[in-house]
Amino acid sequence: MKIFVDTADLDEIRELASWGIVDGVTTNPTLVARSGRSFKEIIDEIFDIVDGPISLEVVSEKAEDMVKEAESLVSKISEKHRKNIAIKIPINPEGLKAVKVLSKKGIQTNVTLIFSANQALLAAKAGATFVSPFIGRLDDIGQEGMQIVEEIMEMFINYDIETEVIVASIRHPIHVIDAARIGADIATIPPGIIRKMVKHSLTDVGIEKFLKDWKKVKK
Ligand code: E4P
Repeated sequence: MKIFVDTADLDEIRELASWGIVDGVTTNPTLVARSGRSFKEIIDEIFDIVDGPISLEVVSEKAEDMVKEAESLVSKISEKHRKNIAIKIPINPEGLKAVKVLSKKGIQTNVTLIFSANQALLAAKAGATFVSPFIGRLDDIGQEGMQIVEEIMEMFINYDIETEVIVASIRHPIHVIDAARIGADIATIPPGIIRKMVKHSLTDVGIEKFLKDWKKVKK
């Protein structure tokens, strides 16, 4: 399973990319606002750090405007990095129209705010490169989020649909294990959860003991 980092925090992206585990990045307007940096600063740097799909979200509401906004975003990225941009489009009728046009133009799309398998199916039909089911937000309202990932994967496998499934809105490390066991293509994970994934108290105790014992060895 590919791992995307779900943040617009450039320092975090740089650090996690240095671990060799980052295949791509997803951002959204909330994450950009939280980073405290301007959108331009983020765009200028993020593509230099990670050589993989980078999702940037449009905020227009009409299909025509979404397409214009997407094209303007693409034009801001240097040519060598353009292959990596994925335009995040919300799932609704206007979003589907925009995905259809962008896919014909060869621009990658990540259809976001997916809360049902049917929404994912329609996004894939319209030509989405990626679909992002939001697991944590479904869990938050008492619906088992991972269930829709299972349904989407089953449908996409049945029909050899090439659209890749990004498990999004991940809240804890068990979500990542569940996504990988189901066979999702990608999990987009907040940095704090990636840090929890690497940590185990027995590892820390083990390192401490080895270092202590090493001091006793005659050099
Ligand atoms: C990623 O594409 C999504 O924007 C993100 O995972 C949403 O996560 P949240 O539900 O924690 O805001």
